[in-house]
Amino acid sequence: MRITVNDIKGMKDRGEKITMLTAYDYAMARIVDEAGIPLILVGDSLGMVVLGYESTIPVTMDEMIHHTKAVTRGAKNALVVGDMPFMTYHISTADALRNAARFIQEGAAHAVKLEGGENVAETVKRIVQCGIPVMGHIGLTPQSIHQMGGFKAQGKTPDAAIRLIKDAKALEAAGVFSIVLEAVPASLSKIITGSVSIPTIGIGAGKECDGQVQVISDLLGLYSDFVPRHAKQYAKLSGTIKEAVAAYITEVKGGAFPTPAQSITMDESVLAELTKSTPSFE
Ligand code: KIV
Repeated sequence: MRITVNDIKGMKDRGEKITMLTAYDYAMARIVDEAGIPLILVGDSLGMVVLGYESTIPVTMDEMIHHTKAVTRGAKNALVVGDMPFMTYHISTADALRNAARFIQEGAAHAVKLEGGENVAETVKRIVQCGIPVMGHIGLTPQSIHQMGGFKAQGKTPDAAIRLIKDAKALEAAGVFSIVLEAVPASLSKIITGSVSIPTIGIGAGKECDGQVQVISDLLGLYSDFVPRHAKQYAKLSGTIKEAVAAYITEVKGGAFPTPAQSITMDESVLAELTKSTPSFE
């Protein structure tokens, strides 16, 4: 059964922790979904961990839609959230609605996420009014790294903390079904989580959030360019993959691969017939 936004909200009401992971392709979405993750985010972190950009800023709508389609083909139960890329919801409301709709119609996502608080509340409201569930994202918002001066923790001064509380409330009033809190002090997450009725999902925001989200490549140890402080590697797949590739190279060079088990054999009589009619092949 497909998870719905009401199921996610119900988890907060019951005090059940929410888990969310990113995925960017069919195979990973299928694994994550089968493992029981209820929320899959096709994050614009795609730009960094899959496409090799230095930030999320170059990511385009077409790239996001391409990967969202693959993820929704793989996820049979999870609610899939498409992350709206940089400047695809700022230029005009019409533009934001058109782009949000593309995630739902073309990508087959079930919700969209966008970064910002009070500044995007009106846009969020219009998207929600169109029947598209929206997830908010405040704190460290990577699409604004140039304004923030890098990937830096947010909400560390009283003014900044108050602004974030107001942002969370503005998003709640605009109708979001949940809010990502990224890189904010755990004590502030606790205050925000207690002051909104919708779930908060933290990344580098402490354990008091209603749920946690991680980038799958960080969790699996696949992306080694940079490991954020908030990430925990539950596996070290990049090492495992390198070992497997090295073993493959050694076996091919040494003649140990392929064996008859990986080869197609020809019936003896067919081979005899072939060598008789084409003696030069002997
Ligand atoms: O793009 C992404 O993966 C995200 C998560 C870090 C929340 O926005």
